[in-house]
Amino acid sequence: MSDFAHAVIIGGSSGIGLEIARLLAAAGTDILLVARNGDRLRDAAEAVRRCGTANVDIAVCDASDPDAVSALVETARRRGPIDLLVCSAGSAAAGYFDAMAPRSFSDSMANNYASALWPALAVARQMKMRGRGTIAVISSLAGERGLIGYTAYAPAKAALSRFAEALAHELKPHGVRICLAMPGDVETPLLAEEIKTRPPETTKITGGSKPISAAQAAREILAAARKGRRVVVPGRSSRWLYRINRAAPWLVAWAIDRLR
Ligand SMILES: NC(=O)c1ccc[n+]([C@@H]2O[C@H](COP(=O)([O-])OP(=O)(O)OC[C@H]3O[C@@H](n4cnc5c(N)ncnc54)[C@H](OP(=O)(O)O)[C@@H]3O)[C@@H](O)[C@H]2O)c1
Repeated sequence: MSDFAHAVIIGGSSGIGLEIARLLAAAGTDILLVARNGDRLRDAAEAVRRCGTANVDIAVCDASDPDAVSALVETARRRGPIDLLVCSAGSAAAGYFDAMAPRSFSDSMANNYASALWPALAVARQMKMRGRGTIAVISSLAGERGLIGYTAYAPAKAALSRFAEALAHELKPHGVRICLAMPGDVETPLLAEEIKTRPPETTKITGGSKPISAAQAAREILAAARKGRRVVVPGRSSRWLYRINRAAPWLVAWAIDRLR
């Protein structure tokens, strides 16, 4: 019997969300996988079913649409209370600020911020009333420090991280836990796409650190959510970067300007 009996995973068809789903399935959790592309969702659900639990459902939904999210959470709730919401949707278009399509900025806020905001809102009241529940929010180290090429991605992740912090304080007295995950580079389709559009300076600055696997990121995030930890930075080198940036932001700013 899993500690999380019922989980909803936004962005569950790929990458970190899919790996979290595999781990939960192996522990016997009933799962609803949510994403926009139905074909990829169906393939992901097949893969997750092979890991354990028989109860893996899918919902095709753009999680940045509050009405669609509210309806799907209502349907999921009829199958039983939601113990865990994982907000792992995201997209990462990179590029020089003045070369990016204006749409990139609103798309980034929709896919990286609103796609977690509306699902969290849809489950918060039910979790509050039950006096329990966990929301894992997958943000990014990019939300801690703006890098060259991330004028669309970094602000969306910064907004998401501050949202998760505020929500954690607000819901703690009600027994609801928020686990904010801030990975660095993780081997997923998102990273493969993002590397194609990264300016060369960004590659130079981040080039030294090897991406961790999606499976490792998922293991560390789920372990932190199970322990009720507020913040998790998966991967040892990312943890060091996070600590150095917190302790001496001026040093990191100086290093970025020198390295470019
Ligand atoms: N990979 C990295 O290096 C890295 C580093 C730091 C943080 N992160 C964060 O980790 C999270 C997971 O990323 P990943 O690397 O695992 O990416 P991924 O493999 O591309 O998976 C992203 C998932 O989100 C879904 N999605 C995107 N926009 C959505 C929307 N508006 N509504 C519903 N589903 C949506 C995608 O499916 P559809 O496209 O079919 O909707 C897919 O299932 C993201 O928040 C990302 O920003 C990743």
